[in-house]
Amino acid sequence: MQELLTGQVLTFDADPFVAGPAAARHLSHGGVLIENGRIAAVDDADSLRARHPHARVHAYGRGLISAGFVDAHVHYPQTAIIASWGKRLRDWLATYTFPEEARFHDPDHAARVAETYLDLALAHGTTSFLSYGTIHPASVEAIFTAAQARGLRAAAGRTCMDRNAPDNLRDTAEAAHDESAALIARWHGRGRLSYAITPRFAPTSSPAQLEALGALWAQNPTCLMQTHLSEQTEEIDWVLGLYPQARDYLDIYEGFGLIGRGAVFGHAIHLTERERARLLETGAAIAHCPTSNLFIGSGLFDPALLRTGARVGLGTDTGGGSSFSMLRTMATAYEVAQLRGTALHPAELWWLGTGAAADALGWGGKVGNLVPGAEADLIVVDLQSTPAIAQRAARANDLWEALFPTIMMGDDRAIRATWVAGQRMHRHAPPG
Ligand code: GUN
Ligand code: ZN
Repeated sequence: MQELLTGQVLTFDADPFVAGPAAARHLSHGGVLIENGRIAAVDDADSLRARHPHARVHAYGRGLISAGFVDAHVHYPQTAIIASWGKRLRDWLATYTFPEEARFHDPDHAARVAETYLDLALAHGTTSFLSYGTIHPASVEAIFTAAQARGLRAAAGRTCMDRNAPDNLRDTAEAAHDESAALIARWHGRGRLSYAITPRFAPTSSPAQLEALGALWAQNPTCLMQTHLSEQTEEIDWVLGLYPQARDYLDIYEGFGLIGRGAVFGHAIHLTERERARLLETGAAIAHCPTSNLFIGSGLFDPALLRTGARVGLGTDTGGGSSFSMLRTMATAYEVAQLRGTALHPAELWWLGTGAAADALGWGGKVGNLVPGAEADLIVVDLQSTPAIAQRAARANDLWEALFPTIMMGDDRAIRATWVAGQRMHRHAPPG
């Protein structure tokens, strides 16, 4: 059965950071034809209807059909502690995060939170993500099981920590290696799922643990590798005290082979020139998490990095981040860049939360853009989802003016429908 979604359509012919906003293509009466879970065609609605008279039509009127959002950095186990008050990174981890993560030794707790997180993600238009687990293999089992049941493209990994963490959240270099290896054998490449080797960050891993995980990645090079880099200045001082031989924070990871394509570094705010150059040269990616950077008081990401060719995608960093919404995350990316003297174009913001995030995770061409052959993960965005947004959008003269109020003020109410692999997985129910 073919499905034909009609509405406004937004796709990208190229990266707008390279080709400018004209890289975006807007069809005001467009359609997306889906067949066998993939995008078969993107074209004018009338032409698609004429060519495919037997397709089942889903007419979304003025709704904007886009690729689903891709969240390049999330901690699904922190779902229930989002918006916890009053702490910076180290105190926030000790006060809120570690006690909650300790609960994931219970597979039932892990399964419940995984379900809650995925329901929230789909309601907010997020169709793919890269998540941290906790130290417990059950946390990874839970998120992969729930993602597989929904047909999602997703990556996750067991978070490894063998020091500077509570007793009940510490492993050893050997356990980190062996339990990660067992999860790779079980889940990596199964359907749409990928494994991400996950040292939490340098302060919670001994050199022996980073070495073991570097070796594991070398043996499993198609896995992703995710960790945190240069989030807070106090953190950097702490890290360099623990690794006194390192030239800088990134050099620690580099020394153990934890850099290169497929590496995704969360935050990367306070980088040296050498670190920027190495990220660029090696093709490693950065997950920019602006709501987290403001919420935990970390700092302002440098938008100049976006124009250097560095691979950067957006992440919510739930629950250090303060929202599940990639719209809210784009809005905050805009505000952070403004504070640093750069106005990001709506096309750039949209790309950061879709195609750029997909590229950062090695999924370019598969998800993140509506192109023939891609997997049919898409969302329908209501550009008038609240009275405040509607009255502003009514003044719009073009797509960007119509979309920007939703970027800045929108949330899950703007997501009319979410489709995953050609199946509708969520539909917004208006109140009343
Ligand atoms: N650095 C190490 N662990 C974490 C985490 O869970 N959240 C954030 N924001 N930063 C981290
Ligand atoms: Zn994080």
